[in-house]
Amino acid sequence: MAVNILVGLQWGDEGKGKIVDVLTPRMDAVCRFQGGPNAGHTLKFNNTKHVLHTIPSGIFREGVVNVIGNGVVIDPVIFKEEIEKLEKTDKAIRERLFISKRATLIMPTHRMLDAASEAAKGKSKIGSTLKGIGPTYTDKISRNALRVGDVVGDYLPKYEQAKQRHEEILKKLYQFDYNISEYEEKWHEAIAFMQTFQLVDTEHLVNKMLQEDKKVLAEGAQGSLLDIDFGTYPFVTSSNTLSSGACSGLGVAPSRVSEVIGIFKAYCTRVGMGPFPTELEDEIGERIRQEGQEFGATTGRNRRCGWLDLVALKYTMMLNGVTQLAMMKADVLNNFETIKVAVGYKIDGKLVKEFPFELTDEIEPVYREFPGWKIDVEEVLETGKLPRNLQEYIDFIEAETGVKIKILSIGADRKATLNL
Ligand code: GDP
Ligand code: IMO
Ligand code: MG
Repeated sequence: MAVNILVGLQWGDEGKGKIVDVLTPRMDAVCRFQGGPNAGHTLKFNNTKHVLHTIPSGIFREGVVNVIGNGVVIDPVIFKEEIEKLEKTDKAIRERLFISKRATLIMPTHRMLDAASEAAKGKSKIGSTLKGIGPTYTDKISRNALRVGDVVGDYLPKYEQAKQRHEEILKKLYQFDYNISEYEEKWHEAIAFMQTFQLVDTEHLVNKMLQEDKKVLAEGAQGSLLDIDFGTYPFVTSSNTLSSGACSGLGVAPSRVSEVIGIFKAYCTRVGMGPFPTELEDEIGERIRQEGQEFGATTGRNRRCGWLDLVALKYTMMLNGVTQLAMMKADVLNNFETIKVAVGYKIDGKLVKEFPFELTDEIEPVYREFPGWKIDVEEVLETGKLPRNLQEYIDFIEAETGVKIKILSIGADRKATLNL
């Protein structure tokens, strides 16, 4: 009777898709609980790379139920594109996919509102993925949204009403020029496509599974530092990305939660704007970007790169109640002589160890240095033995955080994973 929750502890793109895929054989269900097509989760197996945006990362395994929970926002057009791609190789995926009637729909005008809001912000823009995430969650909270359950019947009156309201904002507030007619046509087609799927009250489905002693994995999207409440506001996304979001985003009680798996990269990345104390805007940062192929899975943008930040990591581990860690992309730091980790911040000459209200430009990270490791990935996978320097790095993080690193990832492929 357990829900395990996997959450990103940094600014997203930690490798959640890969680890969900690795854990899925031990699960009966994999469920997304927040976010939407702003997510890009990459899985690699059999020499093929798959990127998922809306569909849970358990979809490739037969016999596993996949749920798009009530906390998710869905763009039907992107959903349809994803399904059509997946159905080329596996016709049966729709049988194992369930969508919550309470999930919220992203309308074409939400995308325009996202673009208009970003344009109006000028230099202080968020760097949103422009998928309409913020405006859709705004409508949900203001009780104006269109939900999946609405489109089971005649949804046009509700749709038109919402669209009219959006158009008024777009024209009057933003004086925004746009044309959605082509996208809108695709959107209505995609709604008809979605109507043929299993649109259900997923909270009953998930809780029944729990009662039957089935194992459920909740797959977080984005990362804890992008959380609407605790992230680096306003440079955040519009949902609760923390483990607590899995309860409201799926309809499971906190008493059902067992393990909280926190996932982080051996270094740090961020896409979009906002503070990043350990960012490296030099050739080291560029080297990490190249070695780690740090380019966005959703937007293709360059990911900003920097050293691991333990002040931030400890903060997000506290907020999530992490019970075990997964460290990703250790192979990327293979050729570095020295690896640094921020163990504190210097603010106004004072050493600060607690994550502050705001990450200002005045913050100077205090680093501890580690000698680099040169691992032979093949050999490590064969023997399971880690080089001393990498083991020291792991020991240090475990000692600082008080939580064990149970999974170590040393390559993008499903197989390049070690259970420690
Ligand atoms: P997610 O959003 O958290 O699922 O992560 P993304 O898929 O956006 O980004 C992670 C990227 O790193 C993807 O391109 C993965 O294929 C890749 N990746 C995951 N784990 C590893 C690893 O251990 N080593 C390397 N080199 N790449 C990895
Ligand atoms: P996954 O699930 C990394 C970032 C955007 C932007 C901010 C707000 O792949 O880890 P939004 O479109 O949500 O309004 O954008 O959040 N962002 C992500 N960054 N990974 C993600 O998802 C992200 N989803 C949103 O770049 O800075
Ligand atoms: Mg991603």
